[in-house]
Amino acid sequence: MSFKFYALLLALLPSIQAIQVANLNVSESIPSKYDGDSTCYKNFQEGLSVDAASYGAIYDTTFYETSHNFSSSKPGDALKLEPVNATLLQDIPKGTTAYRFQYVSKDLDGMKIPVTDFIAFPYASRLSGHVYPAIAYAHGTSGVFRGCGPSAMPSLYEYGSWAFLVSRGYAVIATDYAGLGNNYTAHQYQASPAQAHDLTKVVWPRSHGRVDEWMSVGHSQGGGAARAVAESSLLHEDPLSLGKYLGTIAQAPGVRLQDLALAAIQGSSSSDVASARGVLGEAGWLVLGLRSILPNDPQT
Ligand SMILES: *[C@@H]1O[C@H](CO)[C@@H](O)[C@H](O)[C@H]1NC(C)=O
Ligand SMILES: *[C@@H]1O[C@H](CO)[C@@H](O)[C@H](O)[C@H]1NC(C)=O
Ligand SMILES: *[C@@H]1O[C@H](CO)[C@@H](O)[C@H](O)[C@H]1NC(C)=O
Ligand SMILES: *[C@@H]1O[C@H](CO)[C@@H](O)[C@H](O)[C@H]1NC(C)=O
Repeated sequence: MSFKFYALLLALLPSIQAIQVANLNVSESIPSKYDGDSTCYKNFQEGLSVDAASYGAIYDTTFYETSHNFSSSKPGDALKLEPVNATLLQDIPKGTTAYRFQYVSKDLDGMKIPVTDFIAFPYASRLSGHVYPAIAYAHGTSGVFRGCGPSAMPSLYEYGSWAFLVSRGYAVIATDYAGLGNNYTAHQYQASPAQAHDLTKVVWPRSHGRVDEWMSVGHSQGGGAARAVAESSLLHEDPLSLGKYLGTIAQAPGVRLQDLALAAIQGSSSSDVASARGVLGEAGWLVLGLRSILPNDPQT
């Protein structure tokens, strides 16, 4: 017995308001300074419309606001939940049920912070008391801004990453990481121990179901978080709340970032150029990640 979802917790349905919470638009005059024939602007607009459909398209402003009772909460507490409106989802296997939550974690300095997440599991009748094996799931880089939380995307950021686990009967408890979804803090991008807090605390709240046993799985940025969980003392913090930890699978963990960037630069002529550029694009976000952990940086 690992994970039991209590159907009686299913709460009021939300009103969805789509607003621009991600993706910077620019006027034509900016790229025209660098690009005589406007190819760059055209490509930018095409990319932007694809992005806008993926990021923040179903963002529910009310839900992602910091909960009214955050100030009296402690790490591991539940703050909010709502069912995900299935008709707004795309590319999710049929029969997947999903809820989104807000809970309390800690940042790199140990300060408590609100974080959002979603839980997806195979559809089952409310009455049958279904029990699922549980996975705390840590996603790969999805961005660094408020609108980049997987729980606010029509795809729930499924990229051949977590849905196959649901198809095999697991409940996937997937943190957004602090700063993605809710905006109480900036996202501490690539500070793996911060994401490790988000990944362990996500199995604490009772509203997430009773988790007797769990394991963590993460990919890329999340591979780094899952690895940090396995290495950390977090697993000994509150064994009663935590349930039994069975182990970690860290897929392509995003660690040793300098080596990664150098390999991308050196490999770009011979290997997959798009993939190498992708890594370099993410390296740009490291600047924001670093700023998010520096005290009193005006950029955060
Ligand atoms: C970005 O702004 C331009 C006008 O400056 C507009 O035509 C375009 O639709 C906007 N794109 C998005 C995705 O909002
Ligand atoms: C905050 O309030 C929600 C209901 O709005 C409740 O479900 C949750 O348990 C509360 N959390 C704390 C820490 O008080
Ligand atoms: C789910 O979204 C659809 C499409 O926007 C909408 O018609 C429906 O009312 C929503 N359902 C709920 C319960 O909010
Ligand atoms: C978060 O966003 C809300 C608007 O939705 C804004 O009022 C608030 O100031 C923002 N908080 C931070 C810390 O940026």
